[in-house]
Amino acid sequence: MLIRDGAIHTVDSFAEDVRDGLGQSGQKTLPSKYLYDDIGSALFEAITRLPEYGLTRAEERILRRHSRDIAQFLTHGMVVELGSGSGRKTRQILESLAHHQSMTYCPIEISSAALVSCERELDDLAHISILGFEAEYLDGLSRAVARRRPGDAVTVLFLGSSIGNFDRAPAEDFLRGIRHTIEPGDTLLLGTDLEKPLAQLIPAYDDSLGVTEAFNRNLLARINRELGGDFDLSRFEHVALYNARERRIEMHLRSMEAQTVTIDETSFTFRRDETIWTESCHKYARYDPLEMALRTGFECVAQWVDVEWGFAENLFVAV
Ligand code: AVJ
Repeated sequence: MLIRDGAIHTVDSFAEDVRDGLGQSGQKTLPSKYLYDDIGSALFEAITRLPEYGLTRAEERILRRHSRDIAQFLTHGMVVELGSGSGRKTRQILESLAHHQSMTYCPIEISSAALVSCERELDDLAHISILGFEAEYLDGLSRAVARRRPGDAVTVLFLGSSIGNFDRAPAEDFLRGIRHTIEPGDTLLLGTDLEKPLAQLIPAYDDSLGVTEAFNRNLLARINRELGGDFDLSRFEHVALYNARERRIEMHLRSMEAQTVTIDETSFTFRRDETIWTESCHKYARYDPLEMALRTGFECVAQWVDVEWGFAENLFVAV
């Protein structure tokens, strides 16, 4: 069974966020969530299959090898996935969880194309009804949880190290936001990419085929498509750098010359080598999630690590 809840369109906040982010006098920024429109989500899906990007395969190995073990900690009822993407790696968990009992799976996605492909990918699973929400994370979570039936426990999946898009303090605010939306005893399965040598990390965000570059520049193409911008994509190059102090990859788009770009009658000037900061991907020490849990109203009761790539899956219980 497949039900779809209505989408909420937010063109205005995109225009506003772009105007604010490019109008700043210091470092220009654009929120990374806007990378994930239908084209960006398809490009990200391609990234997950690149030889240099081991993160997704690492998580898939953990979920495949330990799905029964993980499922033992999880509660029956409702599974809500924040940013489901294509849903490919969720299959294992859902199969183990719905082994005996029926349950509801709620994917939350801002890309409607990703939501459709997720629903299609998982539609054949027995004992599972799918209720997708085209929404931002916490909005989608509270709308999904509102449908919980008495006695149902909620499991939140936040996989793929998407938490790494947040700066560290906002990441903990976000975890607290999840905690306040669910009940004591509910669970959160959180994926965190671990710190690793730069020789392994940088190519994961600057691949030889140029898919990550296309993913990054699609943000400018999207501004052209949706907001009437006139970015010349050939005059911006993809940059992936490691900020060692903050322990994160930063993606930027660097203006290769001095230039002026116009978006719906507003002009923005770029100096040569000036960058737009488009995404952060924070990396974690193995024990960081335990402390993050304690500070946000959870307890981390189990952790599974893929040593081949360096990735941890963490099981949090709401206290
Ligand atoms: C979706 C945030 C997990 O941090 O690896 C991948 C995003 N950006 N390549 C990551 C991303 C460029 C990805 N997350």
